[in-house]
Amino acid sequence: MAELTVEVPGLALSNPLMLASGIQGGSAAALHRVAASRCGGLVSKSIGPEKREIYPGPVCVEAMDSVVLNAMGLPNPGVEAFTNMMRENEFSKPMLVSIFGPDAESFANIATQMEDAGATALELNLSCPHSKPGSRSLIVGQQPELIKEYVSAVKQAVNIPIYAKLTPNTAQIAIEAGAALEAGADGISMINTVSALEVDPYAGRPIIGNLLCGMSGPAIRPIAQRKLAEVALAMRRGEIPEAPILAMGGITTGLDVARFIMLGASAVQIGSALIYGDVATFGQIEKELGDFMDVSGYKDLESMRGIALDSMEGLN
Ligand SMILES: Cc1cc2nc3c(=O)[nH]c(=O)nc-3n(C[C@H](O)[C@H](O)[C@H](O)COP(=O)(O)O)c2cc1C
Repeated sequence: MAELTVEVPGLALSNPLMLASGIQGGSAAALHRVAASRCGGLVSKSIGPEKREIYPGPVCVEAMDSVVLNAMGLPNPGVEAFTNMMRENEFSKPMLVSIFGPDAESFANIATQMEDAGATALELNLSCPHSKPGSRSLIVGQQPELIKEYVSAVKQAVNIPIYAKLTPNTAQIAIEAGAALEAGADGISMINTVSALEVDPYAGRPIIGNLLCGMSGPAIRPIAQRKLAEVALAMRRGEIPEAPILAMGGITTGLDVARFIMLGASAVQIGSALIYGDVATFGQIEKELGDFMDVSGYKDLESMRGIALDSMEGLN
């Protein structure tokens, strides 16, 4: 049986299948429930400085086959309630705590509080607006200078590993990845949702309550794979520092996981697939991945990692 364990900074995973942020990771009960499944690790819902309510609905719809659209509004219990919860609970799987804030200082404060409450690794959700005037129409993850500022602030504030979660809504994602790694990120998480919009022709208005939304699910997998290859190839060529990548976007099967590992990912995260198949999905994907590796003669993840990049090295 193929060996599925993987170690990346701050996370010793029993298999490479992690929960993605925002899906079932906002409360102790939800996190315990996912931890009891065959997942290898957890990522919390993104936690901000204060409690935030969910946007008016609809907030999440399957708009067509393989397309999940959402604009939740980053609802979360706030850092104080979440750190209290962390002190009262021990989870049976390693957890990345996802955080966001309006500016670098807020990110650093939340990071410190999470570390004090026992977090062993953080994921910075850089798909959030910046509070300073002038750059409101762009999110942090689209501005390499801001990425550097935010990541450095967190790096200076804590001693635990940090993963920068990147948006795919940018021209050259390797530039954003490089900015995060040069500022001290220990790894990259990618991708967040793809910018999207859908109209309800009967209502004559956008379908999602917030009007604009993000797209996830199987339809975005080729986009996620392309972005992953761009970052992994830049690392291979020495254009940006080398670091582990936690990749995601539309994964629903063991073969999908193999595809991401072959493009250089160390581990993966799974979100929308749980909307269809709940937490049993982790067991199914783990079995499919193990069977594929056994049949194909891959003894562990490392022997498969990055092999699809070999034929792409000459690409510009
Ligand atoms: C309902 C929903 C809520 C999400 N909330 C968050 C969040 O709070 N923080 C975050 O970094 N990403 C969030 N995401 C993005 C996912 O973590 C993931 O990056 C994206 O959905 C692509 O993976 P998938 O196709 O497996 O869902 C959310 C996605 C969905 C569908």
